[in-house]
Amino acid sequence: MSFTPIVSALRELAAREEHSLHMPGHKRGLTTGLLFDWLGSALQYDQTEVGPLDSIHSPDGPIRRSEQLVAALYGVKATYFTTNGSSAGLIASLLASTQPGAEIIVPRNMHKSILAGIILGDLWPHFVKPVSEGGYELGITPASLQAALAAHPQAQAVLLLNPTYEGVTCNLEQLVNLAKAANCRVIVDEAHGAHFAFHPALPKSAVSIRADWVVQSAHKTLPVLTGAAWIHRLTDDYSDEHFRSRLNLVQSTSPSWLLLGSLDLAQEELRLHGYSWLEQAIARAEELVAAIEQNTPLVRWLPPATGDYQQDPLKINLLTTATGRSGYEVARHLGEYGYHVEMAKPHAVLLTLTMADGAMPIEPLVDCLAKLPSLEGGAVPQSPPPPPLPQLCLSPRQAYFASAETVVSKQARGRIAARPVYAYPPGVPLVYPGEVIDENLLAYVEELTSRGGYLTGLQEGAWVVVAEA
Ligand SMILES: Cc1ncc(COP(=O)(O)O)c(C=O)c1O
Repeated sequence: MSFTPIVSALRELAAREEHSLHMPGHKRGLTTGLLFDWLGSALQYDQTEVGPLDSIHSPDGPIRRSEQLVAALYGVKATYFTTNGSSAGLIASLLASTQPGAEIIVPRNMHKSILAGIILGDLWPHFVKPVSEGGYELGITPASLQAALAAHPQAQAVLLLNPTYEGVTCNLEQLVNLAKAANCRVIVDEAHGAHFAFHPALPKSAVSIRADWVVQSAHKTLPVLTGAAWIHRLTDDYSDEHFRSRLNLVQSTSPSWLLLGSLDLAQEELRLHGYSWLEQAIARAEELVAAIEQNTPLVRWLPPATGDYQQDPLKINLLTTATGRSGYEVARHLGEYGYHVEMAKPHAVLLTLTMADGAMPIEPLVDCLAKLPSLEGGAVPQSPPPPPLPQLCLSPRQAYFASAETVVSKQARGRIAARPVYAYPPGVPLVYPGEVIDENLLAYVEELTSRGGYLTGLQEGAWVVVAEA
C-alpha cells in the first residue's frame, strides 16, 4: 500500500491524463498564462474528483486511506481531513457533540471559530475565565472547571484549549477527567499542537488523553499548506457518518487537492522524520533564545514553575520591556529587515518556530534585534489585565440574527453586542454576541487601542449592537 495515497493518485492522474475535460478552469496549467507563470507545474496537481481521486464528502479512495494512515500514526479511532482549517473542525465537533439549544462550557480564551458552532447549534456557552499572569493567559484551573460543571449540570460538552496561541499548556488530563466524570463530551482545540505527539520534550497531546475530539491545524505547526487541518475522533460513540454529516455542512465540495496532498505528505514526513526534525528544531530554538538573551535586552517569558503549566519550546515569547519599546515597535523594526513575527502585543512579541526550523540561521536575526537602540526610560506598559466576563443575556444566535445598529462607544454602555470584537491574532473574543457591553469592557478596549492594539469587529471605533425594539 502506498504511504502517500493522495499524492500517488495525483501523480498517476497527472502522468496519464491526455487533456482535462473538467474543472478547474485553469486546465491543470497546461496552457500558458499568468497563473502558470506564477505556480508552474504545481498546477497539474490542482485537480477535481476524477480518475483515481476521491470525494471529501464521502471518501472511499485515497483520502480515506490517507486519513487512516494519520489515525494509525496518532493512535486514534479515526481522522477526518478538512481544507477549511481547525475552524471547520471545531464547528463540526461542536455540532457532532451537542443537541441544538444545548449548554456548553467554554474557557474564555478559546478562538473565535467556535462562535460559528455556537450560532449554528444555537448553543448557550458558560464561560470560564483562565488564569492570567504577566500579560499572558495560562489556562483554566481544575477548580474553576469543577465549579462550572457543578453550576451547569445540564452542560453537554466542554471545550478545552491545548495549548494557548502562545504555546502554554495546563493540566489537560485533570480537566478532561473532570468533564468526563460530569458526562460531558470533550472537544480539545489543539490547533497549535499537531506536533506534540512526536517528541517527549513537548507538552502532552490530547490524543493520549480520553477526550472525544481533538482538532489540529496541521498547517500551523507541520509542513502543510495553509488551511489544511485534521480532526481526530477518540471515541466509539459516534459513527463516521455522524461526524462527516456535520463537517460537510461547513466544507466546500471542491477541496483543494494541493492542500489534501500536503496533509498526505505530512503524515509520511512525521513517520519518517518527526522525531529527528523536532529534536533539531527544539535545539535550534534553545540556541536562538540563548543568543537573544546574551546579545539583546529581550528576555524569554515562561509560564510560572508552580502549577502544571508547560511551554511549547518552539513558541518563543520575548518580553520587550527592557528595551523601553513596545512589542509593536519591535515587530515593526524586525519587519523592516524582513522578519515578520507571529504576534505582537504591548510588552512582547511571539516567534513561532516549527519542525522545519532545524537549520534556521540565528545570527542575522539576533544582529537585527541588537540593532534596535533601547529607549532610555521608555515606559512599556504591559497588556492590560483582561476585564471581568461580560454578562450573557441573549443567546449568541439570537443576538447575531437580531436587527442591529451601530453606536459610538459612549452609547454602547449597557447595550447587547450583536457581533464579536477581538484582536487578531490571537482571535479571542473580548465580547460575544448576546453579551452586555459594560464599563469594564469599554475601558479595556480603550486602553488596548491606546497602546497600539487593533481590534476587529468595531466599525471605525463604533460597536454593532442589537437594535432596541
Ligand atoms: C487556538 C486556535 N484555534 C483555532 C484556530 C483556527 O484555526 P484555522 O486557522 O486552522 O481555522 C486558531 C487560528 O488561529 C487558533 O489560534
